[in-house]
Amino acid sequence: MKKTLSALLLITVFFSCSEKKSTGGDSKMDTFINDLMARMTIEEKIGQLNLPVAGGAVTGIAISKDVEDKIRKGQVGGIFGVFGPDKVRKVQEVAVNESRLKIPLIFGLDVIHGHRTIFPIPLGLAATWNPDLIRKSAQVAAQEASAEGLNWTFSPMVDIARDPRWGRVSEGNGEDPHLGSIVAAAMVKGYQGDGLSRNNTIMACVKHFGLYGGSEAGRDYNTVDMSRIAMYNYYLPPYKAALDAGAGSIMSSFNVVDGIPATGNRWLLTDVLRNEWGYKGFVVSDYTSVSEMINHGMGDIQTVSALALHAGLDMDMVSEGLLTTLKKSLDEGKVTQQEIDQACMRILEAKYKLGLFEDPYLYVSEERAKNEVLNTETRGASREVAAHSFVLLKNKGQVLPLKKQGTIALIGPLADNHRDMLGTWVIAGEWEKSVSVLEGVKAQAGGAKVVHAKGSNITEDKEFIKRLNFFNQQMVTLDQRSTDAMKQEALRVAAGADVVVAVIGESQSMSGESSSRTNLDIPESQKELLKALARTGKKIVLVLFTGRPLTLTWEEANVDAILNVWAPGTEAGNAIADVLFGVHNPSGKLPSTFPRSVGQIPLYYNHLPTGRPWDGVSETKFKTNYLDESNDPLYPFGFGLSYTTFDYSDISLSKTNLTGNESLTATVTLKNTGSYEGEEVVQLYIGDPVATISRPVKELKDFARVSLKPGESKEVSFTVTPEMLKFYNSQLKYDWESGEFNIYIGTNSRDVKVAKVMWSISSR
Ligand code: BGC
Repeated sequence: MKKTLSALLLITVFFSCSEKKSTGGDSKMDTFINDLMARMTIEEKIGQLNLPVAGGAVTGIAISKDVEDKIRKGQVGGIFGVFGPDKVRKVQEVAVNESRLKIPLIFGLDVIHGHRTIFPIPLGLAATWNPDLIRKSAQVAAQEASAEGLNWTFSPMVDIARDPRWGRVSEGNGEDPHLGSIVAAAMVKGYQGDGLSRNNTIMACVKHFGLYGGSEAGRDYNTVDMSRIAMYNYYLPPYKAALDAGAGSIMSSFNVVDGIPATGNRWLLTDVLRNEWGYKGFVVSDYTSVSEMINHGMGDIQTVSALALHAGLDMDMVSEGLLTTLKKSLDEGKVTQQEIDQACMRILEAKYKLGLFEDPYLYVSEERAKNEVLNTETRGASREVAAHSFVLLKNKGQVLPLKKQGTIALIGPLADNHRDMLGTWVIAGEWEKSVSVLEGVKAQAGGAKVVHAKGSNITEDKEFIKRLNFFNQQMVTLDQRSTDAMKQEALRVAAGADVVVAVIGESQSMSGESSSRTNLDIPESQKELLKALARTGKKIVLVLFTGRPLTLTWEEANVDAILNVWAPGTEAGNAIADVLFGVHNPSGKLPSTFPRSVGQIPLYYNHLPTGRPWDGVSETKFKTNYLDESNDPLYPFGFGLSYTTFDYSDISLSKTNLTGNESLTATVTLKNTGSYEGEEVVQLYIGDPVATISRPVKELKDFARVSLKPGESKEVSFTVTPEMLKFYNSQLKYDWESGEFNIYIGTNSRDVKVAKVMWSISSR
C-alpha cells in the first residue's frame, strides 16, 4: 500500500481555498451529525475511531498497514504523518471520493515548536515567560502547518516534570503549574486562533493526559505513582488550563495513573476530564498506548480496547485495537452501542468544527504553502522568540556583551553546525536552512575577527552515538581526526583570540522522546575541550545548547559567562549573535531548577517543608541533607540574569489584615542599576506556612515583565486575591484557609523580598 499511496502523493494538484467559511451553530452541527450517524453502519462508526500513521512520523515499533484501502472502506477517521498540499489532497480524495459516506479525514502531525520555521524547543519557549511571544510562535506554526494540509497538532505538551533525566522535559514547560498553565493556554490560543473553522488555524491536542512527566527515575514510559494531592495541586492544572483555553482534543498518556494505564483509566478520562472539568472534545490515545495496555497486564487486545472505550477514549492511534475488536465486543455485550456512538460523534464534531464537511480541502493550498511558509516574516518571529528564550546564567566581569573588536574564537562542535540548531521534534523543519552560530556571529561581528575550530566531537562514546542516530546515521558523526589533533587546533585558535566562545552541549537527539539520561553533564569529550580552553586563562563564554537542565557545577566555577540557548530553532545563529553582541539584552528565566548533581533529583522549588529542615549552615546531623552535597540547586527556578542589574525595594502592601474576599496590592519599586536598558520578569510567590495539609514553601502565582532604561525606576504591583491562596485539601476540595501568608516578590524563586499578611475567611 505504501507504494501506491506515495505514488498518488507525488502528483501535484493546485488547489486554492477560501479564507473563511461559515460555521454552524451547535444545533446545526447536531442535526448534521445525527443525520450522518443515522446513515452509518456500526463498522463505519468504529472506523472513525481509527488513527493510523503514514509518512515518516513513526515513534514506536508498530506501523500502520494498508492505510489507503482502509480509508476506502471507511475504516479510518484521521491520519497522521502526511503533509504537503499535494499529498494531503490525494489522501483526502480517497476518503471523499471512494469511501461510501465520503467522510473527510482529519490530518495530524507533531507540530511541536514550529512546522517549517522552527522556534525554540518548548522548554525554551517557556523560558521566555512571555505568553504573547509563545502564542505568536504557535500561530506561525499553525499558519505553516495548515498551509500544508494539516489541521491538527499533537501539541502542546504540558506535562509537569521535576526530573531532568527524562528526555521529554525539552518538550514541556518545566516544573511549575502556574507558568505551565499560562504557557499551555498561550499555545492553544496560538494554534486555534479565533476559531477552528479558519483555514490558517489548527486544532490543538493537549498531552499527555496525565502525569506523564512524573515517570519514575526519569525513564521514559516508566511507572508513575503519586498522591491525589500532588496530582490536583501540581500536575493536573496545566491540562485543565489548556482545555479551558479551548483545546479541541487531548491525548491519553502511556503511563499508569493510580495503577491503571491512563488510556484505560475511567477515573481520569471520564470522572475528572468530563465530569469534573466539563470537557467536550475528543480523547486520542498516544502511539499504540491502547495495545500497550496488554504489556501493562490489563488483558488481551479485545479487553484493553473495550477498557479504553469504556474509560472514555475516542480515537486509537496506531494500535487498531478499537478497529479490530469493538464490533465483537459489542456483539458480546462488552461495550455498548452508546459508547461507540459517543466516541464517533466526538470525532465527527471535531471534523465539523474544523470545517471539513463543508470543504475537505480547506487546509490544502499550494499557494499558501509557497507564500506563507518559512519566509522573512516567520524567520523574524522565530529570531525574536529565540532571543527571548535565552537564559544568562553567569556573566562575571561583564564579559558579555561581546565587543565588536579584537578576535573572537568560536570553538566547539555546535559552532559550525546546522543540524543541532533545531532541537527535538522537527518533522518538517529543514536543518539545512538553519543559521549556524558561526554564520550568525560573523554576520554581526563588525570590526571583530571571528576564528573557528571544532575542538571536539559531540561525544566519542560509540554506544551512545548508536542510540543518538536511531533516526538518521548522520545525526552524530565522528570526526576523522584524533581527539588530540582537534583539541590542539582549538587551543591554537584560542591562543590568538581575545575571547573564546565555546559553543557546546547537547545535540538534537540527546533530548526528546526516549532520550532519558542518567548523567547530566555536558558530554565528556566536550567537557574536556572546555577544561582545556579554561586552562588557557582566556575569557571563556559558554554558549550552552541543551534540552534539559544539566549539571553545570564545574562550568559555573570555571568559565566567565554562560548563556543557555536551549535549542533555538531555524534562526539560532542570528538570535545568539543578537544576544552575544547586546542587540538584545537577555531576559529569559529558568522554567526548571538546575541541580548541582544528579543525586539531588528530583529537585524543584515548590517542595514541601520537612520536619527536620536544614538551614544550610548549622549542624547537619539528623537534618534533611546529604553527606556529600548541599540541598540547594545550582540555579533556582525563575533564575536568569541580564546585562544590566535590577534593584528590588522592600514590598509594600496595601493591607496586612484581610477578611473574606478582599484583595490586596503588593508593590515593589524596581530600579535598573546597571548601564543597559533591560527587561526583568518580576515574580510573585506566595507561601502558606500553616494549613490543614503541608503546603509548598512557596508557589509562583503571578509575574510581570518590566522594561527599564538605565537609572530608571518603576513601581510594579500585583493584585493578590483569595483565589491565589486556594489549594486542594485532603478531601480534594479546592479552597483556602485562614491564617498568615508570606508574599514574596523577586527576581527568581530564591532571591525574594518577603512581607506577611493575615487573611481570615471569617466574614464569608
Ligand atoms: C509520543 C507523542 C506523539 C505521538 C505521535 C508518541 O510516541 O508520545 O507525544 O504525539 O508519538 O507522534
